[in-house]
Amino acid sequence: MSVPDKSVIVEERPEEGVAVIRLNRPDVLNALNMEVRRALAERFTALADDPSVKAVVLAGSEKAFAAGADIAEMKDLGVVEQYQRHAERLWRAIAAYPRPVIAAVRGYALGGGCELAMHADIIIAGQGAQFGQPEIRVGIMPGAGGTQRLLRAVGKYKAMKMLLTGKPVGAEEALSMGLVSEMVEDDAVETTAIAMAKTIAGMPPIAVEQIKEVVLAGQDAPLDTALALERKAMQMLFASADQKEGMAAFVEKRRPAYKGE
Ligand code: CAA
Repeated sequence: MSVPDKSVIVEERPEEGVAVIRLNRPDVLNALNMEVRRALAERFTALADDPSVKAVVLAGSEKAFAAGADIAEMKDLGVVEQYQRHAERLWRAIAAYPRPVIAAVRGYALGGGCELAMHADIIIAGQGAQFGQPEIRVGIMPGAGGTQRLLRAVGKYKAMKMLLTGKPVGAEEALSMGLVSEMVEDDAVETTAIAMAKTIAGMPPIAVEQIKEVVLAGQDAPLDTALALERKAMQMLFASADQKEGMAAFVEKRRPAYKGE
């Protein structure tokens, strides 16, 4: 399904099984106002119920993936108004999307924009991309995972430096610290992300969903519990037709035809 171009997000279907969700407020560097957040939550919720989409690419525009929460919208809020926005419920819809999300980052991914990228499972960055949590410079701190997801991705000392100085890091540094999966030329970011999404869309869907679920659920569990979770999920996949098909195709030296069953 496509939404009109003037919308704050637009959706494209460049390949079978792949949806691109694009932030579409380039004039304000895709600053995340409540309208964008609601639109993102609505699309991710709808796509969760659409098994024809097997991977999502989350993209911005040339200059910015997203330069953070919309400061103009936020600057006069009081505590109660900030609380009542319940932005966490909108973020949760993105985090709960069960299939892989690939962030295609060109330009700025700052504040809420960096947090949005970190909701993805894979981050492809252009050489000119910049990642940062500059909230401290406008008197606040991250509120959508910028302290916790960043900590888990890059470790305490890199995270503290970024959070306490507000200084962004370039794509190369982000790659070396583990915040980026792959760095490519800026104009290859989206084609790379879409090609990767297409590859994933060709994989057995239940196995794909199980990998995502186990990685995310396991990362904060005790190792023994996480390993048990992994083992049970792997064993469960032996009940799927796709396991039989994948292994039969290997033995018969042909391409597997997965059905998501
Ligand atoms: N909110 C609202 N508008 C923003 C914005 C933001 N986060 N970031 C950029 N814009 C707007 C600018 O106001 C400007 O609009 P006008 O043309 O109407 O003046 C337009 O986008 C272009 O921006 P600049 O002229 O500033 O572009 P630049 O190339 O000179 O600088 C930048 C780019 C370094 C990213 C700079 O725009 C910037 O520092 N932006 C703010 C980054 C930031 O602090 N993000 C964190 C926000 S807080 C947050 O995210 C909190 C949270 O989740 C709880």
